[in-house]
Amino acid sequence: MYFLPEKLDDYVVAHSENEPELLQQLTRETYQKILQPIMLSGPYQGRVLSMISKLVNPKTILELGTFTGYSTLCLAEGLQKDGEIHTLDINEELEDFQRKYFNKSEFGNQIHQHIGNAIEIIPKIDKTFDLVFIDADKPNYSNYFHLIIEKLNPGGIILSDNVLWHGKVVEPLKDKDNSTKAVLEYNTLLKNDDRIETVLLPIRDGLTISRKK
Ligand SMILES: C[S@@+](CC[C@H](N)C(=O)[O-])C[C@H]1O[C@@H](n2cnc3c(N)ncnc32)[C@H](O)[C@@H]1O
Repeated sequence: MYFLPEKLDDYVVAHSENEPELLQQLTRETYQKILQPIMLSGPYQGRVLSMISKLVNPKTILELGTFTGYSTLCLAEGLQKDGEIHTLDINEELEDFQRKYFNKSEFGNQIHQHIGNAIEIIPKIDKTFDLVFIDADKPNYSNYFHLIIEKLNPGGIILSDNVLWHGKVVEPLKDKDNSTKAVLEYNTLLKNDDRIETVLLPIRDGLTISRKK
């Protein structure tokens, strides 16, 4: 879904960084072999994630929702030399695909994969984080926030994807639409929590930046 008119969106993409060759390969293979390739962050959002990570220059990153590793590799671009990224996904079938691309990158040794339910795994990772990217199942976004906020270092950043949820956040809420309800509650939670300051950016499907005070 485009929130900008398509022509303007094309212009924005054309005047931003190009997608690295490895990520083009990863995208092609995701479309050939993996269900729901539409879940990929994509070239423009990928460059935004890379840029934010380079600005933060984190020592530790946590990512919820690895999928085929596209956003993992974008975020890894900003890591400190001895930094590490921990990335979680519930789908064990993706593990080998992810590792193949992680090892083709310069960040292979810095990327730690965790397979399983994020709700169970987050408490087991004995680390604090400078940057967190939330891009897993929407109904759990608020639960993820509560688990993560104590593990976020002061000045640390939470990036939350899909917070405009295809524009549904401003449409009348349908009865059984639990995902939209969850995203609405999550956006309110971020806005009202005094421990963070938050800006919602209308990038792609909506990307919120929250900074811990
Ligand atoms: C939108 S995709 C992530 C896309 C990826 N970040 C990217 O930009 O290419 C969401 C991922 O979250 C994973 N997921 C869904 N529920 C989860 C859970 N409870 N715990 C961990 N991962 C989960 C799915 O298996 C899926 O791969």
